[in-house]
Amino acid sequence: MALSPDEIRSQVSASYGARVRPTLEASSDLIPLIDASASCCSAESSCCGSDAADVDITNIARLYADTDITDLPATVTDVAFGCGNPTAIAALQPGEVVLDLGSGGGIDCFLAAKMVGPDGRVYGVDMTPEMVALARKNAATVGATGVEFRLGEIEHLPIDSGSVDVIISNCVINLSPDKPQVFREAFRVLRPGGRLQVSDIVWTQPVPAGLEADMDQWAACIAGAIEERDYLAQIAAAGFTDVTSVTSEYSGARGLASADIVAFKP
Ligand SMILES: C[S@@+](CC[C@H](N)C(=O)[O-])C[C@H]1O[C@@H](n2cnc3c(N)ncnc32)[C@H](O)[C@@H]1O
Repeated sequence: MALSPDEIRSQVSASYGARVRPTLEASSDLIPLIDASASCCSAESSCCGSDAADVDITNIARLYADTDITDLPATVTDVAFGCGNPTAIAALQPGEVVLDLGSGGGIDCFLAAKMVGPDGRVYGVDMTPEMVALARKNAATVGATGVEFRLGEIEHLPIDSGSVDVIISNCVINLSPDKPQVFREAFRVLRPGGRLQVSDIVWTQPVPAGLEADMDQWAACIAGAIEERDYLAQIAAAGFTDVTSVTSEYSGARGLASADIVAFKP
């Protein structure tokens, strides 16, 4: 039986919560930062309870320049689960307001904060309470005062309309069960002239049949991924223009690629 969007989000969140929990529990003072009342989890849901997917979707040394990440603590770099470097797709400018969809432990937010400087602002949104808790602790550790992490779903962003200059995201939108809604929300929160620059996993061939019910493969950024041309069409359907994509090899499975995608809100 097909899972509902809420069930998919719960299981994805449980998977990432389990992956990050050892890092989180190594710092017991992080626990009170979890805002359970606002989370996707409830007493009835299976969220935050299952084992992590047995996948390795990151190679941080391949994605980031050494000079960018040497100052970051292991509680940031050890939980970097991206497939690209969205802050490197196009330069972020001093003073810009940046939003990271699915910010995880915060790595791209901290890199963005350096680029936008003290006059800029960076928001990270993630639905996994453990991720948000760890990211908040990491912000204090690295002294990133212009960065704020909010618990929420990227399909329902806790961000004001027209308030963001640049949206970044790293290996997250493929995990959403409702990607058109994610792109509509991205369009809503961007200011006119704002841009979307995301790294994500896409299929460069038709999506193999029967994958979508495999939640381990979903959490591994495989089963939820869609064909590149459909991804770009969904971005355009949300109202974006000048939608471009550059793909590079990705080791997750044959036929998958890592895509750097840029689009603009007119
Ligand atoms: C593959 S990890 C990437 C994390 C981060 N971008 C990085 O590069 O390390 C995916 C993250 O997206 C979050 N996520 C997945 N689906 C989401 C959704 N629908 N709404 C909010 N966060 C979501 C997960 O909780 C997880 O932290």
